[in-house]
Amino acid sequence: MTIPGKRLRLRAIERSDIPTFVRWFNDPEVRQYLQMYIPMSQAQEERWFEAQLEDRSGQIFGIETLDGTLIGNVGLTDIDWKDRRAVFGIVIGEKEYWNSGYGTEAITTLLRFSFKQMNLHRISLRVYAYNQRAIRCYEKCGFKLEGCLRQARFHDGEYYDELIMGVLRDEFLDHDQRANQE
Ligand SMILES: CC(C)(COP(=O)(O)OP(=O)(O)OC[C@H]1O[C@@H](n2cnc3c(N)ncnc32)[C@H](O)[C@@H]1OP(=O)(O)O)[C@@H](O)C(=O)NCCC(=O)NCCS
Repeated sequence: MTIPGKRLRLRAIERSDIPTFVRWFNDPEVRQYLQMYIPMSQAQEERWFEAQLEDRSGQIFGIETLDGTLIGNVGLTDIDWKDRRAVFGIVIGEKEYWNSGYGTEAITTLLRFSFKQMNLHRISLRVYAYNQRAIRCYEKCGFKLEGCLRQARFHDGEYYDELIMGVLRDEFLDHDQRANQE
């Protein structure tokens, strides 16, 4: 089973994907936008993968193009089944796929699944203020700015703000319907 989009699908991640994840997360161009900042080993990623299998509060999917190329991961962590909320994260690790709409499509595909199948009510995320591409992409998907953690990120010798964005179920479904009519 996969979660279908138009130009991509979301699928379960497999143990055999781990070397690809390690390559992405050791690429400084990708990593500058993520929380991690120390070189990652295969063993660390294997441990994360095993923990993930048992974790009911997180769900990570591989983003695959229709020809079967794994280009990134997208998912939810900190799922709270009582308040029906979760924290969102995405990485397109294959950089040649940046800026071509894959991020927007992977996010809207996951949001539809989260609200219509998982019955979540609210999804939030954190993004560094210098990640303008991600911010623009999140706005296109219906996320709204909710807060700013001033100077919360130290990167390359400077402090940067970290923004909190969120989207509610009804808001997203309206936004999605309008986007599909355009
Ligand atoms: C962030 C990410 C998921 C976005 O996916 P993507 O496929 O590259 O994004 P999309 O093409 O769907 O949308 C990007 C939008 O940002 C715009 N954009 C690109 N660079 C920009 C910049 N420097 N400033 C403002 N907007 C920018 C694009 O023009 C596009 O908007 P448009 O469709 O209105 O023209 C992807 O680039 C990625 O994984 N980056 C590395 C890891 C990362 O940043 N993860 C998120 C951590 S919070």
